Amino acid sequence: MHKLFITGGAGFIGSAFVRLILAEISSCEITNFDALTYAGNLDNLQGLDESRHRFVHGDIADREAVLNALEEGTDAIINFAAESHVDRSIASAHEFLRTNILGTQVLLDAARERHVPRFVQISTDEVMGSLPEDENAFFTEDSPLAPNNPYAASKAAAEHMVNAAHHTYGLDTVITRCGNNYGPRQFPEKFIPLILSNALEDQSIPLYGDGRNVRDWIYVEDHCRAIMRVFERGRSGEVYNIGARNERRNIDVVKAILDALGKPHELIHHVKDRLGHDRRYAIDPSKVEGDLDWQPVETWESGLEKTIRWYAENGAWIQRARSGAYRDYYTRQYGTEISAR
Ligand code: NAD
Ligand code: DAU
Repeated sequence: MHKLFITGGAGFIGSAFVRLILAEISSCEITNFDALTYAGNLDNLQGLDESRHRFVHGDIADREAVLNALEEGTDAIINFAAESHVDRSIASAHEFLRTNILGTQVLLDAARERHVPRFVQISTDEVMGSLPEDENAFFTEDSPLAPNNPYAASKAAAEHMVNAAHHTYGLDTVITRCGNNYGPRQFPEKFIPLILSNALEDQSIPLYGDGRNVRDWIYVEDHCRAIMRVFERGRSGEVYNIGARNERRNIDVVKAILDALGKPHELIHHVKDRLGHDRRYAIDPSKVEGDLDWQPVETWESGLEKTIRWYAENGAWIQRARSGAYRDYYTRQYGTEISAR
């Protein structure tokens, strides 16, 4: 029996992890601790087996709330909770420092105090900065931490605190660093769900700069399966890079989605570039493939098809996610109303 304490389990990746684990591992029980920020969504948790899933509304930076929710016999804390959107961190970094750094520290302290046997930190490839374009260079576990934006800097700081807890107190920790996830239930501020939700309504799609920035895309369930491997078999104190060897230029991602939907490329609208926009991310996943015997299941084509189908069939979810607060954010970010062409 695994008893897991998942934070951020109402968000995109956390909810995919909770769904997958409950569906595939019958001996697993989950406490899902989430503050339900703008990115947290209880719709993402509909239809789960409630006898093995306990949702607790709480903030990871709140020590008392964490300790109250953390049950005896918990096998691991898996920390997905974060402020996760780069553009929001560029507009204001404060919440990123509070949740991503202080929140992680509260969880580390709680793990020690309650003798939780393993701590899994969900980090990101962005902590390693940006790679040169058109060069045979990849992020490995030995790449130096060189974050370029406030979100990435906060996640790098969190990694340092995780490593400090391991080195100083002997806490059993593992860190995963994944690239760009895509799949159902991703909040439509992120690139692929933004493309989909705008294109489905024939609205223009904002493409930053020249559109040639490269991201390394992975289907969310493949990331979740890799996290489970790292939890079960990862070596204490180590980092595991996770990726599906799937680099794509942004412009090619938009075109692929528009083509699949039968929408015109004229919907693409070049806008001012993101400040400090990282040029290229590309992950060498040899370690997780070789040491932990993990491989992605989905290809880019199969994952994208599933993702497109989900958004096409879940208009009500998109409408609820694109609430008044989202519309305000959109206007601030893009200087235009959501429906403008
Ligand atoms: P998300 O923004 O969709 O979800 C974040 C979740 O965390 C939400 O449910 C939110 O309510 C919750 N949360 C935020 N602040 C909290 C707090 N103080 N206390 C408790 N809960 C809080 O994010 P995501 O895309 O699912 O990312 C999950 C994790 O994976 C993050 O740690 C992120 O850094 C990491 N990651 C994301 C990607 C990606 O492509 N999305 C890639 C690599 C790593
Ligand atoms: O690499 C992992 C990271 O991927 C995660 O750690 C982050 O949590 C996640 O948000 C993501 O960061 P990115 O900044 O790469 O993702 P985003 O979806 O915001 O943007 C993907 C690319 O698309 C990036 O080059 C910027 C571009 N973009 C994005 C938006 C929102 C646009 O061109 N237009 C847009 O409107």
